[in-house]
Amino acid sequence: MRTEQPKMIYLKDYQAPEYLIDETNLTFELFDDHSLVHAQLLMRRNPARGAGLPPLVLDGQQLELLSLVMDDHELQVGDYQLTDNHLTLQPTAASFTLNSSVRIHPETNTALEGLYKSSGMFCTQCEAEGFRKITYYLDRPDVMSRFTTSLSASKQDYPVLLSNGNPIASGSEEGGRHWATWQDPFMKPAYLFALVAGDLWCIEDSFTTMSAREVTLRIYVEPENIDKCQHAMDSLKKSMRWDEEVYSREYDLDIFMIVAVNDFNMGAMENKGLNIFNSSCVLARAETATDAAHQRVEAVVAHEYFHNWSGNRVTCRDWFQLSLKEGFTVFRDAEFSADMNSRTVKRIEDVAYLRTHQFAEDAGPMAHAVRPDSFMEISNFYTLTVYEKGSEVVRMLQTLLGAEGFRRGSDLYFARHDGQAVTCDDFIQAMQDAASIAGQALDLSQFKRWYSQAGTPRLAVSEAYDPAAKTYSLTFRQDCPASPGQVAKLPFVIPVELALLDDQGRELPLRLVGEGAEAAVSTRVLSVVEAEQSFTFVDIAERPLPSLLRGFSAPVKLSFPYSRAQLQFLMQHDSDGFNRWDAGQQLAVQVLRELIGQVQRGEPLLLDQRLVEALRTVLTNESLDPAMVAEMLSLPSEAYLAEISEVADVDAIHAAREFARKQLSEALFEPLWQRYQDNRVASRRTAYVAQAAHFARRSLQNIALSYLLLSERPQVLAACLEQYEVADNMTERLAALACLVNSPFENERAQTLADFAEQFKANSLVMDQWFSVQAASGLPGGLQRVQQLMTHPAFTLSNPNKVRALIGAFAGQNLINFHAADGSGYRFLAEQVISLNASNPQIASRQLAPLTRWRKYDASRQALMKAELERILASGELSSDVYEVVSKSLL
Ligand code: TRP
Ligand code: ZN
Repeated sequence: MRTEQPKMIYLKDYQAPEYLIDETNLTFELFDDHSLVHAQLLMRRNPARGAGLPPLVLDGQQLELLSLVMDDHELQVGDYQLTDNHLTLQPTAASFTLNSSVRIHPETNTALEGLYKSSGMFCTQCEAEGFRKITYYLDRPDVMSRFTTSLSASKQDYPVLLSNGNPIASGSEEGGRHWATWQDPFMKPAYLFALVAGDLWCIEDSFTTMSAREVTLRIYVEPENIDKCQHAMDSLKKSMRWDEEVYSREYDLDIFMIVAVNDFNMGAMENKGLNIFNSSCVLARAETATDAAHQRVEAVVAHEYFHNWSGNRVTCRDWFQLSLKEGFTVFRDAEFSADMNSRTVKRIEDVAYLRTHQFAEDAGPMAHAVRPDSFMEISNFYTLTVYEKGSEVVRMLQTLLGAEGFRRGSDLYFARHDGQAVTCDDFIQAMQDAASIAGQALDLSQFKRWYSQAGTPRLAVSEAYDPAAKTYSLTFRQDCPASPGQVAKLPFVIPVELALLDDQGRELPLRLVGEGAEAAVSTRVLSVVEAEQSFTFVDIAERPLPSLLRGFSAPVKLSFPYSRAQLQFLMQHDSDGFNRWDAGQQLAVQVLRELIGQVQRGEPLLLDQRLVEALRTVLTNESLDPAMVAEMLSLPSEAYLAEISEVADVDAIHAAREFARKQLSEALFEPLWQRYQDNRVASRRTAYVAQAAHFARRSLQNIALSYLLLSERPQVLAACLEQYEVADNMTERLAALACLVNSPFENERAQTLADFAEQFKANSLVMDQWFSVQAASGLPGGLQRVQQLMTHPAFTLSNPNKVRALIGAFAGQNLINFHAADGSGYRFLAEQVISLNASNPQIASRQLAPLTRWRKYDASRQALMKAELERILASGELSSDVYEVVSKSLL
């Protein structure tokens, strides 16, 4: 809890550390009612900070200091100063050894930061600033040290004792205790420290690296989950191979371990050699995890593994540089997933997510640059902007440099900075220097604005065709709305990948004025660098249709005045799969906006039949990847429609979208039913496989079912119930349940929900799904259902996955119920945030996000939302996490 007013920390104030810690020797004595931590730190004055011996200021929070010895001198109370956050003492020599002993209480640590207990096991989470809750330390990423860790605990209760690096010794003690010592040969910052003690089983495998070293791979879980680890292990081996093949990155220790824990604030953590995972990102098998869950496990395993180079071997100088490791690593895991599954589908999913959620963040009160320039609480900056937009920035670099140029840059970056703590500027510099070594003059200084300017740029495009001169010009106008602390923005470098299509959908040769005929290619990347800039193509015999921003080549809001007929054409003929999907989304947005207007004006609703016919064409196209068909059938979400509205009218959005879905289900019943049955038959014939072609088939089957059930026909209800009952996998079973939960078939809904809960009550992750589908249901009475579910025995506020599954799904996905006009949804969320603030500030702060978007809604909702934010602010002792978000949202 906050005792001092949280203060703003600025990037411009960065200074290198006064002291360094060459070696860190830790001894943990773990007991059930407290733990002891003994730290021996071999320290010296940082030569980069010059001569003199300024005071040594160590970070430390919630530690009970038991003893402090500097070299051989036992320090007494007057020899140091202790505050809530720091221990200050005066060194008397340029190098010295500091020994400290502290008592901590992992058994009552509900914040899940530092050392804590989850389902009876000890585990740690140190990123970003959790190590200071374990021992007094220089808890900053530019202080890198060699760690040796010993831990002791009851042998019976905690048979497995793990830490970073390699095991070097172990033994038994008096009184049923045992101990183990681990040594990590690599220098690392404290945020990568980890420790685990528990009653765990593991599956083991091995991997032979590109230089023929054998690495032992282990995944540790609670005994009852040992049958759910194989998919994560397969994913790990694929990731290790991929990083060798694509980036030439080899693993560097003799052992790599993953531990699954049930209570975890985020997805997973890349601690050196000992990754700790939310069990939701490890455990997966057909019967209990959906296709989406399987893909998430694969992606998160890869993400954390990739951090071994992008994050651990080369780490961040300070937390403002977080995207240096996160943006780059998200980009790496996205490319891995694209290579393992369908590239186009992966891109569609990522872009839909970015546009809905990151664009909303960029337009809200917490908007910040990919490299923020100030923060109060760093935990609040593990954001969509730092992760997802950061990844888009790295992708743009690759687009501008080409795959080979980008690879030369990453090679130079890893070689130059191995073992260092560096900045985003260093990353860009390596890219630029590698280009210049290869003889390519490249100046990335303007590109760097992507790191320093917040907000989503708008890119308006207009065209002019001159039939006599056979020239076609595109004019780009970019601007970026103001964001907190940044009023005026300078132009970005926006790579626009494009093609020009003829009336058959063929790509025309692209030659700009002044270029030779040999320069012509059918697709190219234009760099838009000015506020307004035109490009003129020559030899264009007929008016073309532009296919712009292919593959979403930049994270901008593009606008081009396409007619609905042109969008229909692009949906069918664009040779870029991503843009085919996007044309469909743009068409759906136009049509839905028209319906929203009709709802608002109280007019009869009329669905533009062009959308129906366009989707019919997609649905009956057997040569299209079924996953693409499924993506194209998915109307833009309510959250996305809210994001692109000036004022989000949730009632009208919901009514319009539901009307369109219902109309589509009637008009397209026959082809939907056909495709549903074809795919369902195929599903019944094949055993579950976690592979792209199978994901694709099930995704089409399940979206077809969700439309079909809207028709309320008995044969569909029967099919849905049958799918629920006989499915051999969670993907089909949960999809059927979700359809019923959103249907008017009350009895079937209640029976199936009860059956599901009875069948899966022992599986906490499956119950999360059960909570989520109910929390997200747009049927009336949403809040009461959620409040009722909070009393269910499987629910607890102390487990972050449960909070996300129920409260997060309600406030984030159930717009119509959360934004109930009486403000009941807002009041409910504020109450949950206030209670979570006391137990788990990181989770409290994250759940707040929907309330921070209050400016998006009508005056009455704005007032209600603001009142709840003010109530939170006045509720007493706020954590720095919640305080920062609430106070900035009210500015
Ligand atoms: N570095 C982790 C990742 O891979 C993020 C993370 C895990 C984290 N746990 C955390 C960040 C707790 C803050 C607090 O993305
Ligand atoms: Zn990460």
